[in-house]
Amino acid sequence: TFAGPIAFLKSAPALQHLPGADVPEVAFAGRSNVGKSSLLNALTNRNSLARTSNTPGRTQELNFFDVGEPLAFRLVDMPGYGFAKAPKDVVKKWRFLVNDFLRGRDVLKRTLVLIDARHGLKDVDREIMEMLDKAAVSYRLVLTKADKIKPTELDKVVAATAEEARKRPAAHPDIIATSSETGLGIAELRAAVIEAIG
Ligand code: GTP
Ligand code: MG
Repeated sequence: TFAGPIAFLKSAPALQHLPGADVPEVAFAGRSNVGKSSLLNALTNRNSLARTSNTPGRTQELNFFDVGEPLAFRLVDMPGYGFAKAPKDVVKKWRFLVNDFLRGRDVLKRTLVLIDARHGLKDVDREIMEMLDKAAVSYRLVLTKADKIKPTELDKVVAATAEEARKRPAAHPDIIATSSETGLGIAELRAAVIEAIG
């Protein structure tokens, strides 16, 4: 499916702007700057489909991308959470937007919760996991920027992250380590998206 056409559909700054819930969706969540938009680009093999930036807070709306012709599924790039430098009310707005979307979207098949491989799970990540567990929304933890640490370090963070994931009712037990730079884990992630879509 990823070999077919992929196109930006629309940006939703608020829930009333969501596209119709007519096809399965997979969403990208995670802290600001963790690499959500970059991973979406790597996954779809498009350099600048989703806008990326070194400055946290780049993605400010829910962005929907149509995959396949005929339309097979949608990928959803989302604003980051836990970005302390943005004005408080803005952070709050993103948080409500993301949380309400994740909790209330019945076509959402899986949420990919991205974690920076250098840092591992943080309390803000655990908060979103808690929210997803409570709402029984299926999610999978994906480590990003794996190129920035040594393989031995990566093995450790994969093991530690998997240990936490296995205690979480709505989490997939297996972790995927990725790098949008080197392509590590991208094929595996594509397979995981296809599997989630069902
Ligand atoms: P927000 O939209 O602000 O929440 O950020 P985001 O999670 O979408 O992150 P984005 O994809 O914009 O990437 C943030 C920065 O990290 C950019 O400078 C990317 O080039 C860099 N980056 C993303 N993924 C990787 C990766 O796998 N390896 C390396 N080395 N850098 C990466
Ligand atoms: Mg982004």
